[in-house]
Amino acid sequence: MNKNIVDLHEKLQALLLTQRDSSIQGKVADYIPALASVKPDLAGISVATIAGNVVSAGEYQHPFSIQSISKVFGLVMAMNRIGDSLWQRVRMEPSGQPFNSIIQLEWEKGIPRNPVINAGALLVSDVLTSHFSSSKLAFLTFVRKLAGNESIFVDNQVYQSELTHGNGNAALAYLMKSFGNIESEIPEVLSHYFTQCSIAMSCEQLAKSFLFLANKGIDPRTKKTICTARDAHRVNAILSTSGMYDQSGEFAFSVGLPAKSGVGGGVMAVVPGYGVICSWSPPLNSFGNSVVGMSLVAGVAEELGLSIYH
Ligand code: DON
Repeated sequence: MNKNIVDLHEKLQALLLTQRDSSIQGKVADYIPALASVKPDLAGISVATIAGNVVSAGEYQHPFSIQSISKVFGLVMAMNRIGDSLWQRVRMEPSGQPFNSIIQLEWEKGIPRNPVINAGALLVSDVLTSHFSSSKLAFLTFVRKLAGNESIFVDNQVYQSELTHGNGNAALAYLMKSFGNIESEIPEVLSHYFTQCSIAMSCEQLAKSFLFLANKGIDPRTKKTICTARDAHRVNAILSTSGMYDQSGEFAFSVGLPAKSGVGGGVMAVVPGYGVICSWSPPLNSFGNSVVGMSLVAGVAEELGLSIYH
């Protein structure tokens, strides 16, 4: 094995060893009851590069609930499907509010601040349900293709749990519909959104799947165009300003990479021109971001000198 790869593998293992214990500073999400039963001390990390290397440590093959990381796949699908008209229905500004907040949505007449807060992702889910005959299947097919793995699945227990405890998301969707910004029927939009959030994937699968965002929209393994270079730039810009919710400023300040978190404990960070880092540890901080997941990404970025602001 190449010496740089061996070095990176040792660095990842060392980072896991030092960071893992800080998971006690966080709390596993329990507002979706099915997520509360995940073991809090599991942790993993994968780094996939455009050059074709994948270096990992810990429980990097353990599937976890991707939750809000799915918003990035959905956004790319919607951009591909309806082009620039998407930006008349959702904006590209940070919200400065928790990911599930409804307050701003009324002031701003049912137009979500960005596509990665819950309101924005529900809007994107509406675009998908109204433009695909079977949006859930189209979504799963898209993700499986990107990961190069047909066995990626929707965790039905998490899906049912989200559906039963999804009144906050239903309120966001109905409010947007009352302003005329949702086309499909709300149960269909919610069912799509909860399905995509309930997909289970590993760090390794996620890191490989998002390589196109680090490579101007082209999957470096298949050479296929997944989105335009302009859209890859736009997604990365949104992830830089809003992907870590109300902690995006701090994450840009201290790490400097476009990133997306999920309440399942995953953190995915894009390093344009280099690759993707994906970490996982279930306990979350008060912003809904994984405590250890963020430290692991920060550690790798620091070790390798990766930042878009250098
Ligand atoms: O709708 C929800 O609240 C969840 N299905 C997803 C939220 C989420 O992952 C926020 N990320 N940190």
